[in-house]
Order: sequence, then structure tokens, then C-alpha cells
Amino acid sequence: MSIRKLRISDIEALHRLFAEVSAEGEFLLRAEAPPIEQMRAMLLRSLPLDLPQFVAEVESDLVGSIEVFPASFCGMKDGSGEDFGVLGMQVKKAHRNRGLGGNLMEVALEHCRRLDMRRVELTVLKSNATAIRLYERFAFRWLTDLPPVTLPNGRTDQPQKMRLLLG
Ligand SMILES: CC(C)(COP(=O)(O)OP(=O)(O)OC[C@H]1O[C@@H](n2cnc3c(N)ncnc32)[C@H](O)[C@@H]1OP(=O)(O)O)[C@@H](O)C(=O)NCCC(=O)NCCS
Repeated sequence: MSIRKLRISDIEALHRLFAEVSAEGEFLLRAEAPPIEQMRAMLLRSLPLDLPQFVAEVESDLVGSIEVFPASFCGMKDGSGEDFGVLGMQVKKAHRNRGLGGNLMEVALEHCRRLDMRRVELTVLKSNATAIRLYERFAFRWLTDLPPVTLPNGRTDQPQKMRLLLG
């Protein structure tokens, strides 16, 4: 297993990863990955900025990814007037619970610190015990509950925001 920076040549494999995890219908609000051209355009914008964007590879197969985009990069604001990181991550089902998520998180947060990011936030469903366990292990803490949502698999769930303050 290796963790490395995301490259533009990863676009097809990254899109397949997003498509597989979205199709599970359990963890994300969408049932499909964003269109590949939209993802490519995002990468072309983000990669030159050297943002925290890493992938996990097992035997040349891209099986996981993490990104932390500044809220300003995503056009988001929280009323504080400060910029903050917004984290997203996924690991292919067959490779979960083997520490890959933790490895991706470690490398991404180290990069956030190098960029002088002061805090990182994310949204996770309360049913996603694996993700919450991982986030709490890295000292993310519950921030607020968001309105309930209906998932692609038809289940209703409660999203929550979590925050990590970087010292
Ligand atoms: C969340 C995700 C990225 C974690 O990746 P991963 O490679 O499985 O993560 P790790 O193996 O490093 O850590 C998983 C932790 O959850 C724990 N865990 C596994 N199943 C669990 C369960 N049912 N309840 C509680 N904890 C659980 C593991 O023991 C491990 O904790 P530990 O290291 O303290 O023992 C991965 O599960 C995933 O891609 N899920 C689907 C997409 C997703 O949820 N993305 C995040 C959206 S907010």
C-alpha cells in the first residue's frame, strides 16, 4: 500500500472510486459520482494550488482518496470571516478497516498544518460509525446536527458537522 499526491492522470480511477462508493447508497447524499468532466475541471483548478489531495494505492489500484479544500475554494462561508478546510474521503469497500483511512488522514492533516490551516470541518451521517470512529481518533469533535436527509437507498439519516482545531 502506498499513499501519494493525487495526479491529473488519476482522473478515471478517481471517478470510478467515487462512482463505487456513491452507488453503495449509504454514506453520501448522491447515488452517482459527479460527471467526470466536472471532476477533471475541479482537479485542474485544485492541483496547481498544492492542496491536501492524496490517494491510496494497492498493487497499482487506486482504492482510496482524501481531499481538504479551503472553504473559500468551494465558495463556502460560515459567518466567522475565517477560511477553513472542508474534508472528504472514501475507501473502496473491499479495502476498509485495514487502516487506509487513518493513513490518508494522517498525511492530509500534516499537509493542512504545513499550509497553516487552523481548522478542518466535515459532514458525516450519524449512522456512519466507522467514519465517526476514525474522525474521533484524529480529535474531530461534534459541532452541530444538520436537518435529516433521505439517502439514495431510501433510509432517513441525520447528518452532523464535526470540527478539528489544528494547533
Ligand atoms: C470512512 C472510511 C473512509 C474509513 O476508511 P477505513 O480505511 O475503513 O479507515 P480505518 O481502517 O483507518 O479506520 C476505521 C476505524 O473504524 C473502526 N470501525 C470499523 N467498523 C466499525 C463500526 N461498525 N463501528 C465503529 N467503529 C468501526 C475500525 O476499528 C477503525 O478504528 P480503529 O483504527 O480505532 O480500530 C471508509 O469506511 C469509507 O470509505 N466509507 C464509505 C465512504 C464514507 O463514509 N466516506 C466518509 C463520508 S463522511
